[in-house]
Amino acid sequence: MQNVVSMALFLCCFLVFFEGTESSLRELNLSRRSQPKTGLCDALIRPSGYHCSEHVVETEDGYLLGLQRVSSSSRNGGGIQGLPFEIIHHFVLALSSSKLYSYFINYAGGDAWFLNSIGQSLGFILVDQGFDVWVGNVRGTHWSHGHISLTERSKEFWDWSWQELALYDLATMIKHVFSVTNSKVFFVGHSQGTIMALAAFTQPEIVDMVEAAALLCPISYLGHVTSPFVHRLVGLHLDQMIMALGIHQLNFRSDLCVRLVDSFCDREVECGNFLTAITGGNCCFNNSRVDFYLNYEPHPSSAKNLNHLFQMIRKGTFAMYDYGLFGNIRRYGQSNPPAFDIARIPKLLPVWMGYGGTDALADVKDVEHTLQDLKLKPELLYLSSYGHIDFLLSVRAKEDVYDAMIRFFKSSKHAAYL
Ligand SMILES: *[C@@H]1O[C@H](CO)[C@@H](O)[C@H](O)[C@H]1NC(C)=O
Ligand SMILES: *[C@@H]1O[C@H](CO)[C@@H](O)[C@H](O)[C@H]1NC(C)=O
Repeated sequence: MQNVVSMALFLCCFLVFFEGTESSLRELNLSRRSQPKTGLCDALIRPSGYHCSEHVVETEDGYLLGLQRVSSSSRNGGGIQGLPFEIIHHFVLALSSSKLYSYFINYAGGDAWFLNSIGQSLGFILVDQGFDVWVGNVRGTHWSHGHISLTERSKEFWDWSWQELALYDLATMIKHVFSVTNSKVFFVGHSQGTIMALAAFTQPEIVDMVEAAALLCPISYLGHVTSPFVHRLVGLHLDQMIMALGIHQLNFRSDLCVRLVDSFCDREVECGNFLTAITGGNCCFNNSRVDFYLNYEPHPSSAKNLNHLFQMIRKGTFAMYDYGLFGNIRRYGQSNPPAFDIARIPKLLPVWMGYGGTDALADVKDVEHTLQDLKLKPELLYLSSYGHIDFLLSVRAKEDVYDAMIRFFKSSKHAAYL
């Protein structure tokens, strides 16, 4: 029993950290925060004065994903110009303030591109620059719509990792945008969004629909994650224990989780240093917006996804999910899971990458490993003071990151259409 409890504590603390006075801990009750019941368009995008339409697409394996198409209200009546853009994101969103530190694994809800002001958030900036922006949301997130036959309470609903997010969800969303707009898409991803992209782009039928891509905090290898705390959890085999316990869905808003975090941080651990310990420092985070972020983040994900990410850390490989010897032989016809060979990504695909010197998840060594293995030569932006979250939520991200990224997109060969 003791083991079960401490496992659960570690799980929760890996996912959500709080620090501060007892009162600030009590103030922060994630389960009390109800996520908006409406769609992402109504919740975040239309109130800022943009046109937004909701789309639902079905994956090969039956999941119903939400996509939002956003355009500027000044482009009258939503008559959309420009090139299609898909922004899929990211794996970790971490938040902090002087009173509170929290850490979320965020498995790709599209809201994170719209959480800062209109002049700071990439989603709004791209629309204002004349792009036709489609916002992607993977299975299991708040903005997606379940499954044609499985309920979210079933074990089977959560039987997936980033491999399915890449080969089914990303493929389906790109295909939809490609067929509606009849043109190739530009892609932007952050963190887990880049894992999905680098895996998906090894598949010719997917990458053929992509015009150019920007990867923020690019990850294909996780062998050099520097975060000591993550290593501790990997060493404890937290992921395998969760699965052995029969937990399939990671629900960060459950009462149990929140209570366990409270007690863990109260008694045993100075939770305040965890944010930096896990993601690395973030230079340009707006502490006053934490409460607002918490209305939207974090989104649920699957235990199998955590397990797959930990496999990457343990083995240093970029490969399909490891089912163990017999499972692999049954599924893949070989004893090891097949690798995603990023050298197969076409040499001529224009790629832009932004990475940071204090990012403890997309570590510089791992980024260099990715660059070595790629045949293509990406345009690079290295910011020594930037951490994992800065690329998404820095108050200076426009000047520091997005302006250069947009110049890259506009200079790529179809820019004449813009
Ligand atoms: C959090 O809010 C929920 C719903 O209002 C409540 O039932 C629960 O007791 C609260 N938990 C804590 C730790 O305050
Ligand atoms: C930080 O967030 C607060 C609250 O939303 C906002 O008023 C302020 O302008 C933001 N600061 C910066 C530098 O963007």
